[in-house]
Amino acid sequence: MRVLGIETSCDETAASVVALDGTSAPEILSNIVLSQIEEHAAFGGVVPEIAARAHVEALDGIVEAALADSGVALGDIDAIAATAGPGLVGGLIVGLMTARAIAAAANKPLIAINHLEGHALTARLTDGLDFPYLLLLVSGGHTQIVAVRGVGDYQRWATTIDDALGEAFDKTAKMLGLPYPGGPNVEKTAASGNAARFAFPRPMKGSAQPDFSFSGLKTAVRQAATAIAPLSDEDVADICASFQAAVADALGDRVGRALNRFRQEFPGKADPALVVAGGVAANVTIKATLDKLCAQAGFTFVAPPLKLCTDNAAMIAWAGIERLRAGMAEENAADFVPRSRWPLDSISAPMVGSGRRGAKA
Ligand code: KG4
Ligand code: ZN
Repeated sequence: MRVLGIETSCDETAASVVALDGTSAPEILSNIVLSQIEEHAAFGGVVPEIAARAHVEALDGIVEAALADSGVALGDIDAIAATAGPGLVGGLIVGLMTARAIAAAANKPLIAINHLEGHALTARLTDGLDFPYLLLLVSGGHTQIVAVRGVGDYQRWATTIDDALGEAFDKTAKMLGLPYPGGPNVEKTAASGNAARFAFPRPMKGSAQPDFSFSGLKTAVRQAATAIAPLSDEDVADICASFQAAVADALGDRVGRALNRFRQEFPGKADPALVVAGGVAANVTIKATLDKLCAQAGFTFVAPPLKLCTDNAAMIAWAGIERLRAGMAEENAADFVPRSRWPLDSISAPMVGSGRRGAKA
């Protein structure tokens, strides 16, 4: 099985070919990601119209390059999988329509993929994980804990009631005058800071409600910064380090709860695993916290290579393969309409405000 994947839901234009021969591990034959960060940096965030235009300009070339790199001719591809949501609708239209055109011209099936499903199934591509497992998705637009029970069978156990975690990093960076994207810059600046200087709140810590919250922490950071302004470089570093420590602590508390719930709901599961995905998974302090938590709880901690944690098309191609082999590609009819909002789990009630502000998925 060879599937061409296309991803255009936010500010990465990406295409990839993934193959599965049924006897050995899946293989990523090509994986091309073009980031638009430079085009958006001047605005301090992703501008949807600029993103959509940049996708239009780049996608043809990226698809061609992904096919050329893979060494597979379009005629030998089994299906085209494209992200159809959630995300910025302009980019989704570009990606899905391009995929539809290629599928029609080459007479191949088209599979519409939920971007979050791509993140959720990546650990099966990289580590061959068996269902069920737990996913922590921490990106610019999403902060969720999902029980991944099977292909198309996801249950959201927690989400953010306000900001996404990556968004909290980005807003904190902006507040402190650090450049976009904020997450990596906050982490870099925090390295020389004193994490004990500011006692920032640990939102939701100890709460019986399983969800996340970060806007109160952001406000606490603003108040602390305002109180000691003008800020020296040392002040900024201390605020970053204290913010990051608060985030790691709060995240650890929330994830710890989910690990306990997983044990209760899947008591027979030998070698349970927690998978992390999304751009915030690049953060070394956060990763170390999760690693330690998993070791204590007897979970395997799976952090796929960063290139496959952040937005990419290999995860979309892989989700296409998973759907094809599960006989679940047909439900994605060729007339699928892109959805800017598309929860992975139709059972859990939508959380007011969740995922609404972040541009990324
Ligand atoms: O997964 P991603 O590349 O895009 C999506 O949101 O789908 O995630 C981007 C987010 C941004 O908010 C960025 O600031 C954050 O991930 N991020 C980080 C780090 N690297 C990226 N946050 C904290 N520490 C990092 N090292
Ligand atoms: Zn994503």
